[in-house]
Amino acid sequence: MATERGQWGSKLGFILAAAGSAVGLGNLWKFPYITGENGGGAFVIVYLVCIALVGLPIMMGEVLIGRMAQRSTVSAFRHIAPQSAWQSVGWLGVVTGVVILSYYSVVAGWSMHYVYLAVSGGLSGVTEGIEGVDPAAIKATFNAVAADPALNVGWHAVFMALTALIVGAGVQQGVERAARVMMPVLFLMMTALLVYATTLDGFGKAFDFVFGLHFERLTGAGVLEALGHSFFTLSVGMGAMLTYGSYLAKQDDLVSTSVAITLLDTAVALMACLVLFPITFTIGMEPAAGPGLVFQNMPVAFAELPGGATWSVIFFVLLTFAALTSSISLLEVPASYLIDERGWSRPKAVTVMVAAIFALGVPSALSGGTALFGADFQAATKPVLVAMGQEGGKSWFDTFDYLASNILLPVGGMGIALFAAWRIGDKARRAEVAAGSTLGRIEGFYLVWLQLLRYLAPIAILVVMLHALGLL
Ligand code: TRP
Repeated sequence: MATERGQWGSKLGFILAAAGSAVGLGNLWKFPYITGENGGGAFVIVYLVCIALVGLPIMMGEVLIGRMAQRSTVSAFRHIAPQSAWQSVGWLGVVTGVVILSYYSVVAGWSMHYVYLAVSGGLSGVTEGIEGVDPAAIKATFNAVAADPALNVGWHAVFMALTALIVGAGVQQGVERAARVMMPVLFLMMTALLVYATTLDGFGKAFDFVFGLHFERLTGAGVLEALGHSFFTLSVGMGAMLTYGSYLAKQDDLVSTSVAITLLDTAVALMACLVLFPITFTIGMEPAAGPGLVFQNMPVAFAELPGGATWSVIFFVLLTFAALTSSISLLEVPASYLIDERGWSRPKAVTVMVAAIFALGVPSALSGGTALFGADFQAATKPVLVAMGQEGGKSWFDTFDYLASNILLPVGGMGIALFAAWRIGDKARRAEVAAGSTLGRIEGFYLVWLQLLRYLAPIAILVVMLHALGLL
């Protein structure tokens, strides 16, 4: 009901909530590890180009749709384009949110477990300062965490329950208020760590790894991964930003807010790389360490400080918190679909959704694969993955992540771009972009944005996807 809708207290409230959604495990966990796996440099450049020319324009389009319709995602498409197939873009977003949250929660679970490990003194191999670090022990700790079925399912349950409590009680307010404190702390901590990282022997090598142009290491699949990640990290392509935009006041500027969110998100991602890789190279570990990268390297950074374990506790608490401000935006999309479209009560919608997402996440939680009741789930179900067209090496976890980031988000993003650029009338669109915005009133800016949204973004998404899937 449009009249009863909440609204952000201020433009800053929107920026913080949206930045809370954008800055998450994608920046601190996923971006460094996929950069490592894709050979660094060229991958980072492609990612930055995707952010600027595809991700940011689509974010503006997505916020625009939400603010214009003042509705959550499926209803928004239906409101602007009644009786059309466009609402399927909204449904796709609901499905995408469910898939992402199912494995996102497993990673957030690792983060919470690392808080526990740091508190209980279980981070072996990192207590003697950076010279005394034992890479094999660090690796063994992470591998043991990833392989433990009860631990993974347990923390996955805890994190889903936390997300449900917050979204169910509608206490985003409280979380956003806490985020106002925790996000700047995270930012400061990353800045301090960056200064420390520049003093390490491995910094030069790491800088070259992250910013050197090693195009020979880039593959077609890597380009798709960079594109997909630009959606993932900005939280665009599934209606989360649309939903947040629907609470934005008409007179608030959607251009400068989108730019601010994008800059903040990108800064955190690059800082994460420039902190992690110097450590990686200094202690002689592999940049392509995979999903364990942040968990293995971060405690090392604290090893030389007095009270190193305490710093690890603080870092992993902040990481958990960054995950939580993102997960609530992921749950909000499917939950508000059930509330707005099916007329369910909020507690019922949240409970049912969370139960379903928890169940869907269990295969990901068991992906690290040792025995559960004597059976290795990952190994036992491998034929199913192979039948689904996944090459042998991919786990359930990898499969869900691949599906969501590299297929569902780009397709959703294309739908959003086409809708905002072709279906919404020019007069209304112009008025939305211009509202409260100095930049948005400049004709040249508007036209460049519109052309990016009309042609470059959809064509780039199509070409990159077809190429990576071997069809072009
Ligand atoms: N952007 C978040 C991250 O980087 C994840 C996330 C939250 C997300 N909401 C989203 C991704 C919506 C895609 C769509 O960790």
